[in-house]
Amino acid sequence: MKLDLVTLPGDGVGPEVVRAAMEVLEAVTDRCGHTVEVVECPVGWSAVVKHGDPLPRETIDACMAAEAVLLGAVGHPAADSEPAARRPEAGLLRLRRELGCYANIRPARVTPSLQDVSPLRPEVVQGTDLVIVRELAGGIYYGEATPEDGTVLTRAYNTMAYTADEIERIARVAFELAQDRRGEVTSVDKANVLVVSRLWRRVVNEVALDYPNVRCRHMLVDRAAMELVFNPSSFDVILTANMFGDILSDQAASLAGSIGLLASASIGGTTGLYEPVHGSAPDIAGQDIANPVGAIMSVGLMLRHAFHLHEEARMIEDGVATALAQGLRTKDLASSGAGWIGTRAMSEAVASIIAGKESDVACTR
Ligand code: IPM
Ligand code: MG
Repeated sequence: MKLDLVTLPGDGVGPEVVRAAMEVLEAVTDRCGHTVEVVECPVGWSAVVKHGDPLPRETIDACMAAEAVLLGAVGHPAADSEPAARRPEAGLLRLRRELGCYANIRPARVTPSLQDVSPLRPEVVQGTDLVIVRELAGGIYYGEATPEDGTVLTRAYNTMAYTADEIERIARVAFELAQDRRGEVTSVDKANVLVVSRLWRRVVNEVALDYPNVRCRHMLVDRAAMELVFNPSSFDVILTANMFGDILSDQAASLAGSIGLLASASIGGTTGLYEPVHGSAPDIAGQDIANPVGAIMSVGLMLRHAFHLHEEARMIEDGVATALAQGLRTKDLASSGAGWIGTRAMSEAVASIIAGKESDVACTR
């Protein structure tokens, strides 16, 4: 099979983790006889510096023509004083919209070999295996807002709006996913305060009727933040709006011990966008210390969702799990005083586990 990809390394540690993830992808495709065609395009601050735009037209066109997009990270401190349109984050938000990616899937699992890394006690985190389904194309990120014209504002607003259709389509993603998992959706909102959340709740209840095998409960977002710490293993699929999902997914990442571990898939449109949950981390860029696991696992999600190569996706998941079980740790995962390995060494280890066929998973034919 031929895989047509676009990579968008972006800013900060983005290029390092994308390189690492591509090395692991190569190990899988070599082993299974697939070929990969890659086009690399600029995005984020590096694209502003080169082209004056965080999302140049050529990047959009290349992404639209590809079967999947792997993104590193965007964001740079130099952009803090820039107007809205020149901010790296604006490029990412436009890209998600252009590609029609309305469903952001962020799995968080605490494997036994990582229990020592979690900031929570092993008996609290054990068994944690949840997926956040975050609405990605609407809500407060895209709502009506105060125009920024360079004058000093004394009042500003952003609005959170959803249509029933937008809620329905993301709810269906969550319920479909739950059907293949433990059959439980927790819809997270702020219905005790927000009108938009009361609409959210009503539509989710309507969708739930179509999935009689899935249990559905509603939880206020503040309570959900607390439950994620006290009782993380009680969640299966968390369904929530754009900004609540942004916040809760960083919190869920911390359960596993590092945001560097989490992967995401943004799907629903023409081309899927796969990216680690972590940001560009400019303070550690270029030092070979970033954790590439989130990017590597994002390639796993890409193989599964974009190419339906489920066995190959399992090779990546198993490869990462084996490396972690062997005690390999990047700096973010190492307890103080313990040894750790660099970004490159981690991806080389995962790639050689896959190439060495230590994993018994078969290739998809
Ligand atoms: C994420 C990030 C982005 C978001 C930023 C970089 C715009 O935090 O993917 O979680 O808020 O969606
Ligand atoms: Mg975020």
